[in-house]
Amino acid sequence: MNMRVWAVANQKGGVGKTTTAVALAGLLAEDSARTLLVDMDPHGSLTTYLGFDAEAAGPGVYELFRAKVGDAAGIDEDALIRKTAVEQLFLMPSSPAMATLDRQLGARAGMGLVLAEALQRLNGRFDRVVIDCPPMLGVLMINALVACERLIIPTQTEFLALGGLQRMLRSLAMVERSRGVRIPYLVVPTLFDSRTRASQSCLESLKADYPGAMSRVVVPTDTQVREASRAGLPVGSWPAARRAGEAYRALMQEVLELEQPLAQAGAA
Ligand SMILES: Nc1ncnc2c1ncn2[C@@H]1O[C@H](COP(=O)(O)OP(=O)(O)OP(=O)(O)O)[C@@H](O)[C@H]1O
Ligand SMILES: [Mg+2]
Repeated sequence: MNMRVWAVANQKGGVGKTTTAVALAGLLAEDSARTLLVDMDPHGSLTTYLGFDAEAAGPGVYELFRAKVGDAAGIDEDALIRKTAVEQLFLMPSSPAMATLDRQLGARAGMGLVLAEALQRLNGRFDRVVIDCPPMLGVLMINALVACERLIIPTQTEFLALGGLQRMLRSLAMVERSRGVRIPYLVVPTLFDSRTRASQSCLESLKADYPGAMSRVVVPTDTQVREASRAGLPVGSWPAARRAGEAYRALMQEVLELEQPLAQAGAA
């Protein structure tokens, strides 16, 4: 069976991308899928979240890109992957040096395919891959969009955050044109506070503007989310974060249902 690859991205910072990537991957792993998280953000929040020192996590995404310029055939993907404290959950870590990749490799041909090719070689080793993206467009984000079959766009329910969603969708359209495929996406409202009018009306306008792409799930603001990340555990594995945990469980279910037709088409 083919490995299924989801990317989590938005061209706005602080909207819950990393939290969402860890939560979904944690639930998939709990569901006994061998799951790989890929940290494409030079800031390494995901790597840190899972208890690694991003400055010294050892070989990871950076080395993958460097190897492409040198000797791609010689790279051993196994050396780039760490076991995490969560059973069945693995990590390809980030490092701060990734911030220099755009400058180093941006214009070279074939640089958009580095992650997709690596995942191809890892096919069969994992059931699921979840890619966490940086909040800006560059060679790392492009690689994630090229490698994924589905995009999850966490969107903070706040008007200032809507521009990030629009930029994200323009970038997605650009990658779709160059890949010659449609990449289905799901807009997931996050940090929703039902007590504020701003949250409410932002959610309404999201629903009005992106009717076909809205998740049925809304992730509420839950102060325990930060505690879960402090403990290095996915939200679903932190019982006190019950509200956000339930939302992420429903989101995982929704995405699995969405990919059902794909799986059936493949089996036919
Ligand atoms: N549902 C939630 N309730 C409360 N706090 C949340 C929730 N989701 C995320 N947070 C907090 O908001 C902050 C930003 O979340 P996160 O790091 O997931 O966003 P991001 O989009 O990955 O940010 P960046 O663009 O910097 O990578 C974190 O401190 C996180 O703990
Ligand atoms: Mg992040």
